[in-house]
Amino acid sequence: MNLFNVYPINPINIVKGRGSLVYDDKSAEYLDLYGGHAVISIGHTHPHYVKRLEDQLHQIGFYSNSVEIPIQRHLAEKLGYVSGKEDYQLFLCNSGAEANENALKLASFYNGKKKIIAFAGSFHGRTSLAVAVTDNPKIVAPVNETENVIFLPRYDEAALEKAFTENEISSVIIEGIQGVGGIHVAPESFLQKIRALCDAHDAVFIADSVQCGYGRTGKFFSHDYAGVNADIYTMGKGMGIGFPVRGIIISTKIKTAYGMLGTTFGGNHLACAAGLAVLEVMEQDNLLQNAVDVGGYLISELKKFSQVKEVRGRGLMIGIELPAELTHVRKELLFTHHIFTGEAKPNVIRLLPALNLTKANADRFLEAFTAVLNKPL
Ligand SMILES: Cc1ncc(COP(=O)(O)O)c(C=O)c1O
Repeated sequence: MNLFNVYPINPINIVKGRGSLVYDDKSAEYLDLYGGHAVISIGHTHPHYVKRLEDQLHQIGFYSNSVEIPIQRHLAEKLGYVSGKEDYQLFLCNSGAEANENALKLASFYNGKKKIIAFAGSFHGRTSLAVAVTDNPKIVAPVNETENVIFLPRYDEAALEKAFTENEISSVIIEGIQGVGGIHVAPESFLQKIRALCDAHDAVFIADSVQCGYGRTGKFFSHDYAGVNADIYTMGKGMGIGFPVRGIIISTKIKTAYGMLGTTFGGNHLACAAGLAVLEVMEQDNLLQNAVDVGGYLISELKKFSQVKEVRGRGLMIGIELPAELTHVRKELLFTHHIFTGEAKPNVIRLLPALNLTKANADRFLEAFTAVLNKPL
C-alpha cells in the first residue's frame, strides 16, 4: 500500500532527538528551530517527560470517558495554576482543529447564533468549521463552504464594528499571533475591541492559541498581552509534545451539559500524563522567562541584518521576512548548516523552537544565518 501523498517532505530520516537537537539515520546532528511545527515545547525526549509517560504506561494507557479519570483533574488544576486561568473549565481533545471545532460549536450552543467572524490570513485547522474559518480557499472543499463565516481584513477596527452592527454574531475567532499566515501579532487594542464588542453583543471571544499559546511568547497565552480575557482558549501544539493532547478552556459563563461535546480518546490517561509532564517542566525550568530572554535576544539580533525586510513576533515565535530574491535561505540553513526552520508565504522563515532553547543554540543559528546571507548568490 502507498501513503496518501499530501506532504512535501525533506529527504531526511530523523531517528533521535535530545533537547533542541535531532539526529538522522546517519547520525548527522541538526539544530531544531522548528520544533516539529511548534510542538516540541520542552525539547525532545525530556527525561521527566519520558519517565512520566513510561510510568503511566506501566499503570494504564487508556480508558474511555465513561469512568473517573482523576489525572484529568490534576491536569486541569496544574493548567489553571500555570496559565493563571484557574476559574476556567477544561475540555480535552486530540487536535488543534478539533479544539477550534468544539469552541465554535460551543459558542453557537451558548448564544444560539450562527455567524462567525474570522480574519484574513487566518489558519484554524482542517475539519469542517475550522477550515471554514481558515483563509485558504485551496483547502476548503465544497462541502465545507458556509455562509456563516464573515472574513474581515486583519486588525481593522472599523470593519469589525460594522460586522457586529449588521449581523447577529455568535463568535469571533482570532490567533494572538498568526502562524501559518506569516507571524503577524494582533495589536493589543484590536483584541480589546473584540472583547468590548463581544460583551456588548453577547458574542463569544475565541482565542486560537494552538500555535501562539502555551508559553511560546513568554505569557501563557499570547492574547494575555492585551490584558483582557477571552471566553474560550483553544490549545494544541506544545501541550503534550510527541503525544496528541489538545484542549479548550472555557469561561464559566458557558454552562456545561452532558453530551454537548465528546470524544473517545480526548483526556485519556497517557495524554494527561504527557500534558502534566510538559507543564511540570515548564514550571520547574521557568521556560516562559527563557522564551522572553532567548526570544528577545534573537529578535533584537535579527533586526540588525540589513538584508531582512522585517522581523515579527514575540518570545520564541519569530518570523523573518526576506525579500523575494532570498528564497534559498531556508534550504541552505537546512542542508548546509543542518538547521530546521519553518516557513510561511510569501518568504517568511518561521522560528518555533523549544522554549528551553539555549543562547548558545540561538548564536549557532545567528552565525549560520550570517553565513548564508553573506554567501554570494
Ligand atoms: C493557529 C492554529 N490553529 C489550529 C491548527 C490546527 O491544529 P492541528 O493541526 O493539530 O489540527 C493549527 C495548526 O497548524 C494552527 O497553527
